[in-house]
Formats: sequence, structure tokens, C-alpha cells
Amino acid sequence: MTDFSKPAFLDGKPKQLLIDGKHVDAMSGERFPSFSAATGELVAEFALAGEADVDRAVRAARAAFDGPWSRMKPAERQAILLRLAELVDAEFGDLALLDTLEMGRPITAALGLRSMVRRSLQHFAGAATHIHGQTLPNSSPVDLLSFTLREPIGVVGAIIPWNGPLFSAVWKIGPVLATGCTVVLKPAEDASLSPLRFGELCLEAGVPPGVVNIVTGAGITGAALSAHPDVDKIAFTGSCETGQRIIQMSAGSVKKVTMELGGKSPNIVFADADLDAVIPAAAMGIFNNSGQVCAAGTRLFVERPVYEEVIARMAAFAEGLKIGPSLDPATQIGPLVSEKQYKRVASYLELGVAEGARLVTGGRRVTGGALDKGYWVAPTLFADVGDDMRIAREEIFGPVGCILPFDDFDDVIARANATRFGLAGGVWTRDITKAMAAVKRIRAGSIWVNHYFAMDPAVPFGGYKMSGFGREGGVEHIEAYLQTKGVWIRN
Ligand code: NAI
Ligand code: MG
Repeated sequence: MTDFSKPAFLDGKPKQLLIDGKHVDAMSGERFPSFSAATGELVAEFALAGEADVDRAVRAARAAFDGPWSRMKPAERQAILLRLAELVDAEFGDLALLDTLEMGRPITAALGLRSMVRRSLQHFAGAATHIHGQTLPNSSPVDLLSFTLREPIGVVGAIIPWNGPLFSAVWKIGPVLATGCTVVLKPAEDASLSPLRFGELCLEAGVPPGVVNIVTGAGITGAALSAHPDVDKIAFTGSCETGQRIIQMSAGSVKKVTMELGGKSPNIVFADADLDAVIPAAAMGIFNNSGQVCAAGTRLFVERPVYEEVIARMAAFAEGLKIGPSLDPATQIGPLVSEKQYKRVASYLELGVAEGARLVTGGRRVTGGALDKGYWVAPTLFADVGDDMRIAREEIFGPVGCILPFDDFDDVIARANATRFGLAGGVWTRDITKAMAAVKRIRAGSIWVNHYFAMDPAVPFGGYKMSGFGREGGVEHIEAYLQTKGVWIRN
């Protein structure tokens, strides 16, 4: 049973920055408020880190990188990560509750991430003792032994969004600890609580001061981190526009950069698919977390013979979803994170109608009683959507799906690929040959066949095209935090 009383971390005091193992105010003394997505109440006040605070955090991270941390054995970092996995797991109810209170993810869904978070930290712990270079035969005229050393990249600046705060913090900080890097992490202004608490748990697990620093703040805080000359790498998850700005800022000191950006992922249903399996997965591929998911399958292509049946069954499923307060364990659809996000989503709801799509279900805000204090949007489906409509091309980041008919394999693949994004995609068919052909031809970083949304720390996830570059999960995730040094020894 989850205890819905306030987590101990919410003690009513303003939250400070976590720099060099200490809680400190912003040098300016400035703070910003964070409001509950579900109730509009003030959840907490946070220190607003400015350029000077970011600089202080980067200095702490640099000193820690050069200090005892750099001499710590891989097995010691592994032990710390395993301890961290235990601490996070033991406190998971509270951590999930922090995310629910702040950004509105329904509590049952937030609690559902428990095993994923534990497995992730255990995975990063395992990686810590599996980092190694290669011995490379060379053809130099002199007898020389050549080999590579894998070294931590240095000070990492991590910038995360609000749609999965704890999970994002874990996937940014885990590889830092596995590889021996240090980090300054900036949470999103709408969801700073669980990343801050996770930073404290890192210290409790034995991470030395300065290795993990958390600077709460706004866009200016992230910009200061992205432009800081002594940050070696930026790991960013968020919007394409902000990602582009960060790439430009990072050029000043030629930082290594990884980008996990937005998407408009295709989910393709062939007529021979098992529709009983398609409907719930395709629907939750759109509506999970009220659609505030980068990999959401928001372009549902359906082969003509089953087109109307899929529309009707998707609509019935959408209408059966339980919309409610975030803290109600029965709730499946919670609020959008903020008024700003609601206005964005609402503008697309109007646009879809104006563009001539057929509104099948939803398309409106849901109000009444407790729901008046936040921004709930009914699960929404547009059918007969044209490929050129903006609702089919732009990331909405709300519970809004587009259903598009198709007649031909080559045609649907071309249309699935006719997007600037390439984060993910789905294919539903009983024909393995057709499935494999689609897998090979869809230009996206993750493809699910007869499934949607599986993720695992052992499997790479990330974008083609403007959905970004670099992978999180898999070997590539760890590699992105490492340098390679070529070494030559005369013998
Ligand atoms: P955002 O990309 O602006 O925010 C993500 C993070 O970047 C936050 O921590 C933010 O403080 C930081 N940031 C903002 N400006 C920055 C700058 N100039 N330099 C460095 N860091 C900066 O996204 P936002 O405004 O929260 O959401 C807007 C839209 O972005 C959403 O409607 C959605 O479409 C998309 N988005 C996509 C996400 C994904 O996972 N692909 C996650 C969040 C948003
Ligand atoms: Mg909020």
C-alpha cells in the first residue's frame, strides 16, 4: 500500500541547490515556485540557480573528477550503484509520489516504474566493471604494442525535461557513476523534486561530494551549463528547439553532445494484425502519461480493410479510460503538466478541426469537481487525417492521436518516413516477412513489432534525424560517457 501522506522530503522549507555535497541557496537568493499539476497548489519553492551557481557547481564537479573519485576502483563504484538501487527501491513510494504531486502522472503509473528504475541502476552497476579497451595489432615498421584505454569523459552537464523526472535523472546519472564522470544536473522547472531527492540518495549511497550536483532553475540555468567552458559533455532530453540552441552553445568549447529530442512516431497496423492486441497497446502508445511521452505513437496508420473497425475500437477504448485525480489509484489519465502545456495542446485540438480532420472522440478539456484545478484533456482521436496537416506533422505532447488510412506497403512506409523526426515506430502484423521489411525500412531508433513502448537499460533508445543523436540504454549509453585513448609502447 502506498502511503499518500506527504513524503518526508516535502518539509515545507524552500529547496536548495545540491553542490559539493552541501545544500546551498542560489547566490542571488532568488527562488521559483512549482505548483501541483493536479491541484494547482504550491508544492515547493526551489532555489533559482544563475550563472554563478552553475559555475560553482561545475568547479565542484571538476574538483571531484580530479580528486579521490578518479582513483576509486570500478568495483567500488559498482558497490555504490548497487547501494543506490537499494535506497531508491526502499523509498520508491515516496519518489513516485513526488513526481505525481508535482507533474501529475497518475500514482499507479508512477509506481509502475519501480522495477524499471531498480533494474536500470543495477544495470549501470554491472556496467561499471565491464569498461575496457582493446589490444590492436599494428603494422608500424618499429615494433610497437598498441592498445586503447577507456576513460571517463569528465564533467557532464545533464539537462532533463519534466515528463519523467525520476527516470530521466536515473538514466543521466547512472552512466556518470558507472564510468567515473561527475555531473551537474539541471531538472526541469516543472519537476525538480525527485531529481533533487535522488541527488541526496546518491550521497547517502556513498557517492563522494561534488560528483553529483543538482542545480534547480530555468532555461537560463540550462543555458549557463551548456555554455560553460569547463563542461566536457552535455546530455540533453527535451524539445527539438531547445536542443538546437544547446548544440549552438556547446560549440564554444567543442563539447561532446548527446540529444534525445521529440518525435511523431508512426504505428502501422496491417489488416492481418491481432486487433485485440493492437487496440490497448496502440491506445496507450498515444495516451500514456497524457501523451507527454517523446516516443508516443501518435500517427496510427491503419490498412483500409480494418480502418473503420480500428477507429471504432480505439474510440471505445479511449472513452473507457479513467480520467481522474492523480492520487486516485484507479486513475489512468492525469492532468497535463501546466497551463502552458494545456494551451499548446488546446491549440492543436482546435487546429485539427480547422484542418478538416474527423474528430472521433475527445477534443475537449474535462472539468468538474477536483478536475477544475488542473488541466485534463479527454483522450482524443482524429481520423481521416491528411499527411500534410500540422496535427500529423508536429509534436503535440498531449493525449491526441491521428489515425490515417493506407492501402499499400510501400506507400505507408514512405508516409511513415515523411517526417523530420525518427525516434520510434510500431508495426502490427502476423506476417514476419512483412514485419521485417518494415523494421528495416522505417528510419527510427526503436521499432516495436506487435508491441509498443518496451524499454530496457540493456537496449539502445534514441533518435534518427531531428529526434537527436546518441543512444541511452545499451552499450552506446555507457560509451557516450567515455573517451578513448590510443596508447603506443615500443617493445
Ligand atoms: P524544453 O526543451 O524547453 O525543456 C527541457 C529542459 O531544457 C528543461 O530543463 C528546461 O529548463 C531546459 N531549457 C530550456 N531552455 C534552455 C536553454 N536555452 N538552454 C538550456 N536548457 C534549456 O521543453 P518545454 O518547454 O518544457 O516543453 C515544450 C515542448 O517540448 C513540449 O510541448 C514537447 O513538445 C517538447 N518536449 C519534448 C520532450 C521529449 O522528451 N522529447 C520533453 C519535454 C518537452
Ligand atoms: Mg508543476
